[in-house]
Amino acid sequence: RTQHRSADSPMIPTTQLQAVATLAARRAGEHVLANLHRRGDANSILRTDVKHKLDVEAQETAAAVIRAAYPDHAVFGEETCEEPFPENDYVWIVDPIDGTINFFHGLPWWCCSVGLRHKGRSAVGAVFIPEMGQMYEAACDGPALCNGAPIRVSETDRPELAMLATGADKWDLGEHAFRFMRKVSEIAQRPRILGAAAVDMCLVAAGKLDGYFESGIYLWDMAAAALIVERAGGRCEILKSYPGHRLSFLATNGRLHDACRNALLPLLNP
Ligand code: IPD
Repeated sequence: RTQHRSADSPMIPTTQLQAVATLAARRAGEHVLANLHRRGDANSILRTDVKHKLDVEAQETAAAVIRAAYPDHAVFGEETCEEPFPENDYVWIVDPIDGTINFFHGLPWWCCSVGLRHKGRSAVGAVFIPEMGQMYEAACDGPALCNGAPIRVSETDRPELAMLATGADKWDLGEHAFRFMRKVSEIAQRPRILGAAAVDMCLVAAGKLDGYFESGIYLWDMAAAALIVERAGGRCEILKSYPGHRLSFLATNGRLHDACRNALLPLLNP
């Protein structure tokens, strides 16, 4: 297989890459939508997670779209995350169903996320929320869009007036996760847990949430959505990295970033 490795090879135009990202996310989401009657069809149901058959199928669906367009690119996804991270200039990062537990229980806040890293930098991203009929997307050199229309982060500049989303870190649902939820509740006007990291980030990009923090998400949860937040005028930051592609992650409208970061960082490095 040929690989795009030469240091000076120019990146494929982002318009082409973005079209593939949105098609892959849409096809994955459509596959899941066509199989809503199989919501309960899990491979395993754990205390903190559900491993769903449709997760595996949706990743295969997205990967097939990407491989048909770019056979020499690498695909890395939640369902194959035990494999070593690919060494390739182009690495597509897929979360076939982000918010799997929402999906399993029948809540509509789940999405299919496809991001592309070129030489380690985010190039394009697409997040499709099938039950809402919303496609969020961005390229590193273009605007953030929802269903083709430009979106922009909010202008809220005081945390006490902000709607901040967080999540129940599935790594540890005890005191560890609760410390962060308590802090988010303390600083925000209202805290929210919607249950799908990439959906939360798209809502930050669209100005409907002012920020999102979670103590433990994964690379595939943010690979597409972080670029969408940034291209909508917001700011994203990995506050801490852990083995296994696990991250403490903050996404905000930018204006609230330092205040959120300063409140949360001490909890990560006590
Ligand atoms: C999870 C969801 C959830 C968040 C977890 C994520 P998954 O992703 O985004 O909201 O709390 O940290 O891992 O497992 O449904 O793809």
